Amino acid sequence: MVKVTVCGASGGIGQPLSLLLKQSNLISQLALYDIVNTHGVAADLSHIDTHSKVTGHVGPKELEEAIKGADVVVIPAGIPRKPGMSRDDLFKINANIVRELAVAAANYAPHALMCIISNPVNSMVPVVSEVFKKYNVYDPRRIFGVTTLDLVRSSTFLAELFNKDPRQVNVPVIGGHSGVTIIPLLSQATNVSFGDLSEEQVQQLTKRIQFAGDEVVKAKNGSGSATLSMAYAGARFTLNVIEAVFGGVSRTECAYVNLQADPNGGAQNVWRIAGDKEIDYFSVPVEFGKNGIQRILPIGKISKYEYKLLKEAVAELKSNIVKGTSFITDDSKL
Ligand code: 2OP
Repeated sequence: MVKVTVCGASGGIGQPLSLLLKQSNLISQLALYDIVNTHGVAADLSHIDTHSKVTGHVGPKELEEAIKGADVVVIPAGIPRKPGMSRDDLFKINANIVRELAVAAANYAPHALMCIISNPVNSMVPVVSEVFKKYNVYDPRRIFGVTTLDLVRSSTFLAELFNKDPRQVNVPVIGGHSGVTIIPLLSQATNVSFGDLSEEQVQQLTKRIQFAGDEVVKAKNGSGSATLSMAYAGARFTLNVIEAVFGGVSRTECAYVNLQADPNGGAQNVWRIAGDKEIDYFSVPVEFGKNGIQRILPIGKISKYEYKLLKEAVAELKSNIVKGTSFITDDSKL
């Protein structure tokens, strides 16, 4: 019996994400929450002949019912970027939305696994974590920023260059989920001969991965950012976590997490490589198990260029983290 609540289920990411989750046999209830249209989306999805029961919940008065007892809460809620905007420009509006959802989760589903998709992810994971701390229900092993789209894009673009099947090409992506904080470790890619790429190709590909979200924002010309590929990535991540936690299988995936989830393991490796012990959150390869994060895996050997990228990412990442953290710690109403 796994109850999954999708917050923002009527939106551009929420609808296809809910559709993909509806296909899983591991989910028994799919509770869809949004401030508009959720009953329609729920009625539509409920006709699909798969295992889970779909329920729709509209507006703050129905939030408790939507989230109560959830095992997994996925949050794609909020507004998307328009051309020329950075993810950070979304902070003010989305932080208010995510705070409200985090408060509901802390109250009604304090043990839920929290999968955060809303942007800026680098700041929203600290927002949710700080809310959980205020309610004394914080467990860093259970709150994740979903960065899977960066991995998906890396596989796709690199496989294209080598004319390979993207499913066979895996690239770890560390750091965060915006611009220069996205650090694809192309030197660790599987099933391609990285050595065949010129320095220029590596740099071009890295930039393309870091700013791939902008390609979509530009092409959508004012109507939003990536929704379908994000839904695919969000569903892949969520189902991996569910399989590990409730299905008893070990799963490994990169995610943006609080390094305190494994302070004596992989976290030490990040702090050492970055030369900075004050980085609290970072996207790292994670092994999931029955309690959420079982282990943060070592980043492994990185190239000189990747090391330079890491050094460039740290300052922005830390300021994104402070922004999210202080949004809650400075909030006297909570
Ligand atoms: C992206 O990377 C929406 O943040 C998402 O396109």
